[in-house]
Amino acid sequence: MSNGDVNASRRRFLVGATSVVGGVGVVGAAVPFVASWNPSAKAKAAGAPVKVNISKVEPGQQMTVEWRGKPVWIIRRTPEMLANIEKMNDRVQDPQSEKPQQPDYIKGVYRASRPEYAILVGICTHLGCSPKFRPEVAPEDLGAEWLGGFFCPCHGSKFDLSGRVFKSVPAPLNLQVPPHKYVDDMNIIIGVDEGAA
Ligand code: FES
Repeated sequence: MSNGDVNASRRRFLVGATSVVGGVGVVGAAVPFVASWNPSAKAKAAGAPVKVNISKVEPGQQMTVEWRGKPVWIIRRTPEMLANIEKMNDRVQDPQSEKPQQPDYIKGVYRASRPEYAILVGICTHLGCSPKFRPEVAPEDLGAEWLGGFFCPCHGSKFDLSGRVFKSVPAPLNLQVPPHKYVDDMNIIIGVDEGAA
């Protein structure tokens, strides 16, 4: 065998080994890709409704879930919180929820089909930051007149515990109420209208 033959077969071996390694690499990379695009992930990204069990939300607490890539808050309001919302009517821009920031079946000062639960898209209507839940009454940083609500740290917009925007803040509209329906007392579906099948 000449030197040329040896080099040729060694080259063939190297080429073969490289393509096997390359093949393994491709399979390894393909698995997580396929797993992240299973039908439910795809459906979620496209905005499929989200079913939420609200039984663990204590009075006065907030729970956050994700729907269509946005935070949706569920706040369980106490009777005191509901009474404080009524006191805010003169200080908010759209007290009766007349601007189209909610489905038709959501009306009035509580902006909810069951007043105990506020369901709101947690995105500020100014430039899209996520406001903070501040349920306390008269905390030092928000002042003696604060009766609980949401404070946006980006430019200082304020919303009450119904998501109604205060007067004289940068945000122009109440927080959105997403379409939702109660399946039973403790389960809601976000992304499906009340009365829909
Ligand atoms: S984004 Fe909330 S006040 Fe500007």
